[in-house]
Amino acid sequence: MSSLPIAGTTPWIRIADARDHLGGAVEVRGWVTHHRSSGKVQFLVLRDGSGLMQCVAGLKDVSTDDWEAAARLTQESSVVVRGTLRADTRAPGGVEMGLQAVRIVALAEPYPISPKEHGTDFLMDHRHLWLRSTRQQAILRIRAEVVGAFRDFMDREGFLLVDSPIFTPSACEGTSTLFETTYFDQKAYLTQSGQLYQEAAALAFGRTYCFGPAFRAEKSKTRRHLIEFWMMEPEWAFATLEDVIALEERLLVYTVGRALEARAEELKSLERDTTKLARVKAPFARMHYDEAVARLHAAGLPFEWGSDLGGTDETVLSEQSETPLFVTHYPAAVKPFYMEPDPADERLSLSCDCLAPEGYGEIIGGGQRMASLELLERRIDEHGLPQEAFEWYKDLRRYGSAPHAGFGIGVERTLAWIAGLDHVRETIPFPRMLYRLRP
Ligand code: 4AD
Ligand code: MG
Repeated sequence: MSSLPIAGTTPWIRIADARDHLGGAVEVRGWVTHHRSSGKVQFLVLRDGSGLMQCVAGLKDVSTDDWEAAARLTQESSVVVRGTLRADTRAPGGVEMGLQAVRIVALAEPYPISPKEHGTDFLMDHRHLWLRSTRQQAILRIRAEVVGAFRDFMDREGFLLVDSPIFTPSACEGTSTLFETTYFDQKAYLTQSGQLYQEAAALAFGRTYCFGPAFRAEKSKTRRHLIEFWMMEPEWAFATLEDVIALEERLLVYTVGRALEARAEELKSLERDTTKLARVKAPFARMHYDEAVARLHAAGLPFEWGSDLGGTDETVLSEQSETPLFVTHYPAAVKPFYMEPDPADERLSLSCDCLAPEGYGEIIGGGQRMASLELLERRIDEHGLPQEAFEWYKDLRRYGSAPHAGFGIGVERTLAWIAGLDHVRETIPFPRMLYRLRP
């Protein structure tokens, strides 16, 4: 293995910046994705994480040692190359390197992932390597953009980032999906949602949000469920259900717009039909739970008033809409204990889910929080939750209670929709699913 860099003062550049160095000599450090030789000319395609670059060497362009080194390169070998850059419309990224020197950093063993079709399980078992593929790189770049958009948007709206804890003493979203762990001599749970802590934060700072992982022991093996997923949760003091619905709408318009602009190339490589995303403009469609039930009946589904929308129901509703769809006023019985009742019908709650179009279904859950201490205590009992664990939470109603509302938006489901993926498993670097904890 040779030392880095090759020699001399050639600048080490990222492939993404190659256009700024046309005509100049540069160094690139990366991995070989393709190699072929015609006897007198060798072609390499390198990946450095920022892009792909084709490199070409004629027999006379490089030393004999370098020529032989290049000839030994296997897929995924790591290399440092030096050469001059020229524009070439046929090359990926539009820039080609004329090689002057090649250093092998590490020759790779025969690479297990080949261009042939592999099954999903095989690819998931090799997720640590699969991340190197063009498709996975496109998806994860869009993910980073979506997360950046979420946070930038909230910052601009005047919300303060306040992190919620991961170890929690009690349930937020119901006890059935809690992951229990030991916390010295106590029991603790991995957080299902940072919401309750955001309520405390919002009553301290007015407008806050957290961004972090959430854990749910959901025995669901669907294209929408992960055991560990990432969520952004804004909370807003003195705001109502209507205020957060408007906020969600602005957030989604901004996020989709930014992905379309900043990640156009990646969306194209995923063959995403972006004309559908371009239609994500305010105002979004919205319907009351009662109307959703009527629509489901009209579609021939045997849906019972009072139950929660299931995956198929959401698919049917969200297929009928071009924009995201807000479904409001779910029955209190299918929502967690903290939802404010609907003053127009006490059986319902001031809740709202946002369903992504094209059949994707729920990407946001939220609503207005319960203001009354008395009712809150009753609901905690009805849900079989221990009052002591919620004393601190009840303090928020004792000291300067105010109406407040918020929501949680899941990164993976939002990304699956924006990137046009049919399963959430590719939306997170290392998915945790019902039957998958490795790698
Ligand atoms: O609807 P959920 O359960 O809402 C809450 O957790 C609220 N406490 C949020 C709040 O108001 N602060 O979850 C919110 C979102 C869902 O709409 C979905 O996008 C995502 O989190 N989500 C999941 N994503 C992947 N896999 C799972 N198992 C998910 N469960 C929820
Ligand atoms: Mg939900």
